[in-house]
Amino acid sequence: MQVIRTVAELRAWSRQAHREGKLLGLVPTMGALHAGHASLIRAAAAACHQVAVSIFVNPTQFGPHEDFSRYPRTFDADCAIAEREGAHVVFVPSVEELYPHGPISTFVEVPGLSDRLDGHSRPGHFRGVATVVSKLFIAAEPDQALFGQKDAAQVAVLRRMTADLRLATEIVVCPIVREPDGLALSSRNIYLSPTERAQALTLSRAVRRVESLFASGERRSDHLLATAREVFSSEPAVQIDYIALVDWATLEPIDEAKQGSLFAVAAYVGSTRLIDNVIFP
Ligand code: PAF
Repeated sequence: MQVIRTVAELRAWSRQAHREGKLLGLVPTMGALHAGHASLIRAAAAACHQVAVSIFVNPTQFGPHEDFSRYPRTFDADCAIAEREGAHVVFVPSVEELYPHGPISTFVEVPGLSDRLDGHSRPGHFRGVATVVSKLFIAAEPDQALFGQKDAAQVAVLRRMTADLRLATEIVVCPIVREPDGLALSSRNIYLSPTERAQALTLSRAVRRVESLFASGERRSDHLLATAREVFSSEPAVQIDYIALVDWATLEPIDEAKQGSLFAVAAYVGSTRLIDNVIFP
């Protein structure tokens, strides 16, 4: 597995692979890889001839009081996982490489969508995500880019961005990977104390309750949302950020759930912000 640190080298690698008629898969990450990322890399390796994993803790998607400086950085372990799962390249640019004129520079923004759900709670977050992912797409020109459904709002923003910019990259979404007790895997789970780890299960419990209510025929948004709030009320230490039932493409609230609608929650467990969701089957 090759480690690439510059955009020029990544572009050269991608162009060579495309000249050879190979399909390229890209798995954009911020590192601290876990089994969720591993599943994305595996899916990319199954669908594409060449797979790159980018590892970049992107400063422009963190707010001033967020965890940019303490975000886990585990490069050697990440490379071992990427290689084991079939990646051919790990792209690890410096901040200067991706933001040559500093982090206040040219941005890509998806108006409307960027201000909903996580974008509402974390102003500027999705502008940072859309900007860095565009840079990666422009450099690597991947045929497919794989993202986890856990970041469902991010997926909506990136789908709109690629459609608006007429990029050729297909966004592929892979299922949420969970711990055996239901907790959705996240690089931020390592922040949780044992007590918080137990409290964090409130999110997946709410998601499961709403999912089974939908399966039993309930479609009314107010009922589904009230059920989720009830689950959270049993764990007052967990602070709800949002509980929402939305159209997955627009992230606009809906009155009636249907197949493909997104039910999503975000909550603070201690100082750690976690998210979880279900797309109704
Ligand atoms: O989902 C993430 O890890 C990040 O938001 C991404 C897509 C790698 C952009 O920095």
